[in-house]
Order: sequence, then C-alpha cells, then structure tokens
Amino acid sequence: MTSRNGGTAVLPGSYDPVTLGHLDIIGRASEVFEKVIVGVVDLPIRKAKTVFGAEERVRFIESEIAELGNVQVIPFGNLLVDFARENGAKAIVKGLRAISDFEYEFEMNQLNRKMAPDIESMYLMAAPEFSFLSSSGVKELATFGGDLTGLVPPAVASRLQEALKR
Ligand code: PNS
Repeated sequence: MTSRNGGTAVLPGSYDPVTLGHLDIIGRASEVFEKVIVGVVDLPIRKAKTVFGAEERVRFIESEIAELGNVQVIPFGNLLVDFARENGAKAIVKGLRAISDFEYEFEMNQLNRKMAPDIESMYLMAAPEFSFLSSSGVKELATFGGDLTGLVPPAVASRLQEALKR
C-alpha cells in the first residue's frame, strides 16, 4: 500500500449517475488522502432535476467503492464548504476534463476560497480515456438506446436504460 499524505478530502458532485470517470477520480484520491468523502448533492429544489434520487445515487457509488477502505459516501444539501468543515476535510477535490470545465471551476474556486480560505480546492486531471465522459452525455445516450459499456458501471447502465429509454 502506498503511504498517504493524511487528511480528509471531500469529492463533491451530483453524480447523476456516477460514471467510470468519477470512479477513477475517487480511486486516485483515495490513494493520496487518508480519508475520502464523496459528497452527493441532495437538493430536491434544485432547478435541474436529477434522474435518480440521492439515495440511489449514493448506493450506486457505494457498491462500486466497496473495496476501497477509506472512502465514505454522504449526501449533503448545505454549502460545500460547510459540508467539508463538518467532516473535518482540509481539501475539496474535483476532476477536470477539458478547458470547458475550467471556467466554471475557477468561479466556484473563488467563491469557496472567499468563504473558507482554510479549505484548499485541488484538481485531478481526468484520465485521457474519460476526458470526454459526462453524466449528461451518458443520459443523452441512454435516452436514445446507445451502448453505455465502458462509460458507467453495468448496474448503473441497466437502471439508466430502464429510467430513460423511450
Ligand atoms: O456539477 P455538479 O456535479 O452538479 O457540482 C456540484 C457541486 C456541489 C460540486 C458544485 O455545485 C459546487 O462546487 N458548488 C459550490 C457552491 C455550493 O456550495 N453549492 C451548494 C451545493 S449543495
């Protein structure tokens, strides 16, 4: 086992649904940090409605990370920096795919930094094989019966096809 740097990191997201790209970032963060908390946004009043409820989104992730001993999945509906504090996290970790992610993340970074300068946001670059992959892209494919192999875990693919297929 590699030695970890210590500390807790929060990996926030909607995870609607979790993709193999998310799972790659979670696995890599779990090699670096002592403890990783995957924070699943649970905001029923959010403008963009999710396909899956928070409980199911949490379960999808839990069943994929079962062998990682230092990862916990927790739903949250408050400010990300407050959630990070409640869990004793000193870092927020996010995955970055392309330049298009940068602008949004840059803004979030400034806002979060202003509220909580003591919590550092850190970014892991997506592995090349996942740099095109997004939950919204996967949902689009599922809606039109596309093949989800290699994009999401098989259990997620079948639930997604069931939920979205026309
Ligand atoms: O793109 P996503 O996956 O929906 O991102 C969700 C999240 C929480 C990572 C993003 O909205 C963010 O960085 N928000 C920071 C501001 C905040 O705390 N919002 C409340 C979230 S419950």
